[in-house]
Amino acid sequence: MSIVYLNGEFIPAEQARISPMDRGFLFGDGIYEVIPSYNGRFVGFAEHIARMQQGLAELSIDPQLNLADWQTLATRLLQDNNNTIGSNQAVYIQVSRGADTKRNHAFPLHIKPTVFAYSFAIAAEPVADKAKASCYSVITGQDLRWQRCHIKSTSLLGNVLHYQQGYAAGAQEILLFDAQGNLTEGAAVNVFVVKNGVIATPPLSHKLLPGITRLLLLNILRKHSTMQVEERDISEQEVLNADEIWITSSSKEIAPVLQVNGQPVGDGTVGDVWLAAQQLFSAHKYD
Ligand code: PDD
Repeated sequence: MSIVYLNGEFIPAEQARISPMDRGFLFGDGIYEVIPSYNGRFVGFAEHIARMQQGLAELSIDPQLNLADWQTLATRLLQDNNNTIGSNQAVYIQVSRGADTKRNHAFPLHIKPTVFAYSFAIAAEPVADKAKASCYSVITGQDLRWQRCHIKSTSLLGNVLHYQQGYAAGAQEILLFDAQGNLTEGAAVNVFVVKNGVIATPPLSHKLLPGITRLLLLNILRKHSTMQVEERDISEQEVLNADEIWITSSSKEIAPVLQVNGQPVGDGTVGDVWLAAQQLFSAHKYD
């Protein structure tokens, strides 16, 4: 039986209850995080919490928990669930504004945030091995989400519809482009392209989530390699002509995309730059 955290208590999942008047349920009025861990070690824990705190501040939600509190909470979840879930777990955290007695769009003043966290099994850590890489087919589409994609909000309908669009087309992700034709991100991933050995990813803005895998990867590449890395606008044409495309997220780390709209990316095989990048990421992600 798995143990979850809800509003200060560690309880069996079956006993966790929240009100249907919770604004997370009624409005998607909340923030979430997904933090991976392997054998009890989190990847980018402080960075994930910093992004969550920033999102909560933007929504004026204050659960009154600091980094050390979150660390204690998440570590306890890993420990309590190690026997049932295993040693590779991601911790999902969700903080909503809380439950009021009536439904009203305005922020209620005197309610307490609802804090929920649970852990779930994830695959073993990705390895830098071309033969073992999890590879993806994607389609492209126009980004029809809102103008606050930098907030990791539980209001994920825009992302869900885009993800489903890719899924319905037989793909596993969708690469999204803004009204100017520039790449933003995927439905649940950030995107990198490689051309002639140069690595590029879109710059941070309200158009995309500041992914923690993206952040760690950029830092690692800049610190531990001489590879050229750019944060800049990337057109659809550039994506379609790229030698390599990668999608990044906490669960995937760096995953090669081998097909876009049914066409091969580069020569259609896992690239050498991916291999070098995943090697560096695997070596330094816990630094
Ligand atoms: N998705 N962009 C979007 C829209 C995302 O939802 C995610 C993560 C990312 C990658 O961010 P990170 O590297 O911090 O995981 C980019 C999570 C895992 C999810 O919704 O399950």
